[in-house]
Amino acid sequence: MQADIGVIGLAVMGENLILNMASKGFTVAAYNRTTQKVREFIEGRAAGKNILGAYSLEEFVGMLERPRKVMLMIKAGSAVDATIEQLLPLLEPGDIVIDGGNSHYADTNRRTRYLAERGLLFVGAGVSGGEEGALHGPSIMPGGNPAAWEHVKPIFQAIAAKVADGSPCCDWVGPEGAGHFVKMVHNGIEYGDMQMIAEAYSLLRAVLGLSNAEIAEIFARWNQGELDSYLIEITADILTKKDEETGKDLVDVILDAAGQKGTGKWTSVTALDIGSPSSTIAEAVFARCLSALKDERVTASRIFEGPKAEFQGDRQAFVEQVRQALYASKICSYAQGYQLMRMAAQEFGWELDYGSIALMWREGCIIRARFLENIKAAYDKNPQLQNLLLDDYFARIIQNSQAAWRQVVTTAVLHGVWTPAFSSALAYFDGYRSATLSTNLVQAQRDYFGAHTYERTDRPRGQFFHTNWTGRG
Ligand code: NAP
Ligand code: ATR
Repeated sequence: MQADIGVIGLAVMGENLILNMASKGFTVAAYNRTTQKVREFIEGRAAGKNILGAYSLEEFVGMLERPRKVMLMIKAGSAVDATIEQLLPLLEPGDIVIDGGNSHYADTNRRTRYLAERGLLFVGAGVSGGEEGALHGPSIMPGGNPAAWEHVKPIFQAIAAKVADGSPCCDWVGPEGAGHFVKMVHNGIEYGDMQMIAEAYSLLRAVLGLSNAEIAEIFARWNQGELDSYLIEITADILTKKDEETGKDLVDVILDAAGQKGTGKWTSVTALDIGSPSSTIAEAVFARCLSALKDERVTASRIFEGPKAEFQGDRQAFVEQVRQALYASKICSYAQGYQLMRMAAQEFGWELDYGSIALMWREGCIIRARFLENIKAAYDKNPQLQNLLLDDYFARIIQNSQAAWRQVVTTAVLHGVWTPAFSSALAYFDGYRSATLSTNLVQAQRDYFGAHTYERTDRPRGQFFHTNWTGRG
């Protein structure tokens, strides 16, 4: 029996993707560097299924139908290059290598070209949804050599998550590293979502003094409306979980020092490189960095006393204001993510279908949310939309929630509650909606000390002027 596809890497993601593929009727070859894992898998979870275990790469490649489709689900980085090098002598022109790990898009650009020079088709596929998603239906964002798409499409679209009308959360993203780029932005947006939810939680707790159980109910209610999303849903769940050891709410026992694997950092570094203002996403990464300085924060907390404000307003109204602030901030964060993809597409010469990307994120992935339908609708209406904030639906939401949003950020500042993502999203909005900013002064300063020149408001763009500010020669 020949396999339709082979997967290398039998950690959680690889195993679950193989089981997902097999459940959809595909025959899958499985290989892992440490071959003991192949034996355990074949005798365990794969037993009785159309899954073939291979104990060497030669045996593995020999099991595959032509053109061979080899999917790597291994640790991103040098492991991918090393495995590709081992595969090269075993593959033939027209064979396809797919990297389903969290690789950096620049590595995928390089690998697509490297394999193309050898007649091989490379695909960099972002896979999201964690181990559950891999097993039951992930969001898959494939890019790379477009000639590969017709061969991998039937498998990928069969195993991907589906939206209500049955459309798969997987479509061709674009050339070279476009798929991994979109997956990277997904993770950056995920950082923003998580931080903003944490800020809403801390406002309800610190300003109104609500209990975890009360906040869980509020989140569960919000999840019935426009904020309906996986992350809001699990937050409501998390807040009701008890610690088995102490009987306390588990969330209160968890140390407030966040870790990170780095994809949010990649998004922010890329935004800086490209010059795209993804400030809320970057703020969410810095928030994790600040949180990790636990000991320093404890020391500083003994030195600095915060404000002793007491909330005097309408408590019910404040809960609704926080909801509106969360939604408005979330819209700004997604606007930044889409703006980054747009600017990257210009820089790299990619043609991205932004509506299709919203559909890929609608189910299966961590940021899945009802409002991605509104994003899809916005780009379907206007594929050239410059910024999500300019779409009628989103403009109306932001306009209607502006007052509440400002009230929440003001309250946070007056109460000394840490809300970097809410505040930065509002600053992004205020900057973006301003026809005139204070950066004329920055240009003047640059010209003063460095003769960097400036453009004038009364002359066409692109003409540059310099002033001798001091009168000195
Ligand atoms: P992982 O812990 O990232 O990687 C473990 C796998 O990589 C094992 O099969 C291991 O083989 C193999 N490996 C490591 N170094 C290797 C090398 N030098 N040569 C050959 N194989 C090597 O596994 P994972 O969590 O299943 O993730 C797989 C990929 O999917 C990663 O890129 C990850 O970032 C991405 N991803 C993960 C998730 C998630 O929720 N876990 C979600 C989306 C994407 P040995 O058994 O021989 O060590
Ligand atoms: P998915 O695509 O399914 O979201 P992922 O990209 O591997 O899977 O990461 C899932 C989430 O778990 C991410 O938010 C990731 O955040 P980091 O980039 O900060 O890691 C988080 N995550 C995964 N492993 C983690 C770890 N060891 N420590 C902290 N967060 C982790």
